[in-house]
Amino acid sequence: SKPWTVPALAEAKRQGRKLVMLTAYDASFARVFDAHGVDLILIGDSLGMVVQGHDSTLPVTVDHIVYHTAAVARSLNRALLVADLPFQSDATPERALDASIALLQAGAEMVKLEGAGHKLEVIRFLSERDIPVCAHLGLTPQSVLKFGGYKVQGRDEAAARQLKADAAAVAAAGASLLVLECVPSALAAEITQAIGIPTIGIGAGPGCDGQVLVQHDFLGIDTGHRRPKFVKDFLAEGGSIAGAVQAYAAAVRDGSFPDAAHSY
Ligand code: KIV
Ligand code: NA
Repeated sequence: SKPWTVPALAEAKRQGRKLVMLTAYDASFARVFDAHGVDLILIGDSLGMVVQGHDSTLPVTVDHIVYHTAAVARSLNRALLVADLPFQSDATPERALDASIALLQAGAEMVKLEGAGHKLEVIRFLSERDIPVCAHLGLTPQSVLKFGGYKVQGRDEAAARQLKADAAAVAAAGASLLVLECVPSALAAEITQAIGIPTIGIGAGPGCDGQVLVQHDFLGIDTGHRRPKFVKDFLAEGGSIAGAVQAYAAAVRDGSFPDAAHSY
């Protein structure tokens, strides 16, 4: 099938076709993911935790993301490549533009950044300059110091209202995609219905337009970090890396993953 494009993502949402996303950090895993049905690959700053062994994503730099983006880009034929703007590389529009140029020149086709608030100006600045942006709301891991840990977001009524307003605002600012992390299923479904851009859930229930998992979690690798409720080991089910990808892609597309046991 044809390579993914940014406009095709919105078209998939209109047609009700689910988007299948995984993180990857190197060419060989990404090759298998791409060959067996993954639509989007994310070079997540989760690499700080699962590749570099840190306790958070804060030590990750633009150069680190560039290195892994370039490696993954060499092996993709079909999947759209999204790369994270790491901690504070998006603190101002100008910094975010410089970092995004580096990521796109390494092979990324979209950049992802966490939050709304002052980040709305950053999203607008990048998208006006034809840099596709994926927003990320809910549990934003770069906010771990402020949150005091990795916790489900949007649980009370005021927080849910704020999250809904932020989701509408990132879409209005020009984001092409929205990751919702650790958000109650009903709230994520409501946001998905309310906005025109596709939502990608991780710990956000089955009502999103697509799903993402971290490569190591999806393969059941013990990273030394606490394993969240939404994680499922697809290697156990698929029997091989290729089989795991096929099982995950099929489960996302038929709506059987995530189920209630893997949601909030
Ligand atoms: O860094 C990452 O892997 C992410 C996903 C969990 C969405 O941001
Ligand atoms: Na990330």
